[in-house]
Amino acid sequence: SQVKVAVVVGSLRKDSLNLKLAHALVALAPKEWTFDFVQIDDLPLYNQDLDGNFPAPATRLKQQVEASQALLFVTPEYNRSIPGVLKNAIDWASRPWGKNSWGGKPAGVVGISVGAIGTALAQQHLRNVLSYLDVESLGQPEMFLQAKEGFFDAEGKVSNPDTVKFLQAYVDRYVSFVSKHVGMGHSH
Ligand code: FNR
Repeated sequence: SQVKVAVVVGSLRKDSLNLKLAHALVALAPKEWTFDFVQIDDLPLYNQDLDGNFPAPATRLKQQVEASQALLFVTPEYNRSIPGVLKNAIDWASRPWGKNSWGGKPAGVVGISVGAIGTALAQQHLRNVLSYLDVESLGQPEMFLQAKEGFFDAEGKVSNPDTVKFLQAYVDRYVSFVSKHVGMGHSH
């Protein structure tokens, strides 16, 4: 079946490892699935005064999320949590009160870091936020990747075939997790 996934990358960096990881995962997904990379770099800082008069980028974000059946968060770890830009995006689309755009959508939570624990703590913080927003995240397999030299080749592809196998196993589990949710009437 056709599923549209909203991909949220928690880094604004042009050469982001997490952006590369997101593309690597998308490349391993079923061809009939579509992936919409949501734009978060033009969102203003969230301000509750604007709840009655949403800025255009925030409305666009809400529409992109609502038009998708599933979510994929690919994020770095900043100071043992998620980057502020990601929290800002999550906060925007959770508002105004009673109009949480994330709710009920199944999510994958993954990340890559230069550090040894591979975004584990950022992912745990993110799962906390998501569970409050009524987003169920895939628990297993976990994906904590450390980007050592040469993890991505010059074209941004994952170099190690065993790592590609691991990514494929993750995508397969994610696809069946999302498919189950969509089948259960969680799609919009
Ligand atoms: C980092 N980095 C980092 N890494 C980590 O494993 N744990 C952490 O807590 C942090 N903290 C942190 C804070 C800030 C402000 C920056 C800028 C960086 C390093 C981080 O893993 C590295 O910069 C990645 O390359 C960021 O991901 P992208 O932008 O490549 O996707």
